[in-house]
Amino acid sequence: MSKKPISKKEPPQTVKGMHDVIGSEYYALEGFLEKASEVAMYYGFQPIRTPVLEKEELFRSGVGEGTDIVEKEMYAFRTKGGDHVVMRPEGTAPVMRAYIEHGMGSWPQPVMLYYKEHLFRHETPQRGRMREHTQFGLEILGTPKSIADAEIIHTFSAILKEAGLANIILDINSIGDKECRPRYIRELANYYKKHIGEICNDCKRRLKENPLRLLDCKNEKCQPIKENAPHSVTALCDACRKHFKEVLEYLEALNIPFRLNNNLVRGLDYYTRTVFEIAEDTDDGTSSDSHPESEGENEKGKDKSKKEDGIEEARAPLALGGGGRYDYLARALGSRREVPGVGGGIGTERIFLSKNWERQNPRIIKQPKIYFIQLGFDAKLKSLGIIEILRKARVPITQSLAKDSLGSQLAAAEKVRVPYAIIFGQKEALDDTVIVRDMNTRSQDTVRIAELSKYLKGMR
Ligand code: HAM
Repeated sequence: MSKKPISKKEPPQTVKGMHDVIGSEYYALEGFLEKASEVAMYYGFQPIRTPVLEKEELFRSGVGEGTDIVEKEMYAFRTKGGDHVVMRPEGTAPVMRAYIEHGMGSWPQPVMLYYKEHLFRHETPQRGRMREHTQFGLEILGTPKSIADAEIIHTFSAILKEAGLANIILDINSIGDKECRPRYIRELANYYKKHIGEICNDCKRRLKENPLRLLDCKNEKCQPIKENAPHSVTALCDACRKHFKEVLEYLEALNIPFRLNNNLVRGLDYYTRTVFEIAEDTDDGTSSDSHPESEGENEKGKDKSKKEDGIEEARAPLALGGGGRYDYLARALGSRREVPGVGGGIGTERIFLSKNWERQNPRIIKQPKIYFIQLGFDAKLKSLGIIEILRKARVPITQSLAKDSLGSQLAAAEKVRVPYAIIFGQKEALDDTVIVRDMNTRSQDTVRIAELSKYLKGMR
């Protein structure tokens, strides 16, 4: 029989742009999401979790055919049954799908939902931009009222403050509704047509496919043209103007500073009226080193990168979060009724890049109070029973089941700085006792196992 060749496989690795979350990073993520959920709950938001896989059509109809997310970034595949599915690239279309599917229109309105989700976008990985990222999202569905727009921003601002990011820049704009937007888009396209010879190839394509996205362009060549482009706010119809004015008044009343950003249009097609983005306002103007999702642009902290034809492209600070109103999304997804909605998402990984971020530990984290040391086979046999007594008494432990000598286990206990150690050897196993050692004073008590629970209560 011929021997099988020894496999020369490469060591296993994560897929590009995705990473494992381990140890303190795991606790940071959980801690942030837990705090954010708590804040959202105080404001009346309820949790929702939607599946990782959705039908591809949901995002094609919801987010928009011409968007980068749908065109270039979806992890899309066909199931064995022939369904076209994608790993969700964003959270809003799935939440709206759930609202329609579960008849949430018959619940008291508006329905206020929060979610913490992993999202998947096949982007070029870089700092603050991964192929799998985590978002904390908020959606208010079933009301067109401007106070809902302000409430979303207000809640995000409270969440960011809790995470130590007190100085935020809120960029805000209104891109109108079906009354006034077509007129504005015509005006914008006509303006750009006059400058066709001066704009980049991407903009020539945008002019044909989706003129609003002309305002996303970061190519230096196009900046002078963009600066003089007509503004959507000046083209708003009366209803949109009133709505936007009210949103800004609420923000003023809430003491949330904002910046009107005429170029903010965002990278998803479902938005109407209010669009916003939140970045961090740092002393040096650089919250970090990438560009926001919107491709809408902040002037502060620009840096440069090469793009098309080697032309310099201005980049703005990373957006921590963004969102807006999406009053026509439900209809686009096939709902018989209109469901006005507004929401946003913040990227948790981006928060951790901030110099001001304050780590919050999740409630579940248990600092070990006792190092459990067992010696010899008889003790090991009984040790799981003692560990159970400790768990029921709510005393978190740490242990090294693989170590056998007292010295090495005591050394490990010193290293992890636990206040107590329990020593359980052959003799104690026979006597049904344990030794409880105070790691600071090095004093020791022998305690009967039957009394251990009571003894532990006295220790606290
Ligand atoms: P978005 O602007 O695409 O909006 O994403 C929101 C936030 O998620 C971004 O501001 C950023 O912090 C984070 N983020 C996005 N992509 C990545 C990535 N590749 N790596 C790391 N972080 C990322 C939405 O997704 C909308 N669904 C928000 C929304 C909710 N609008 C209305 N409701």
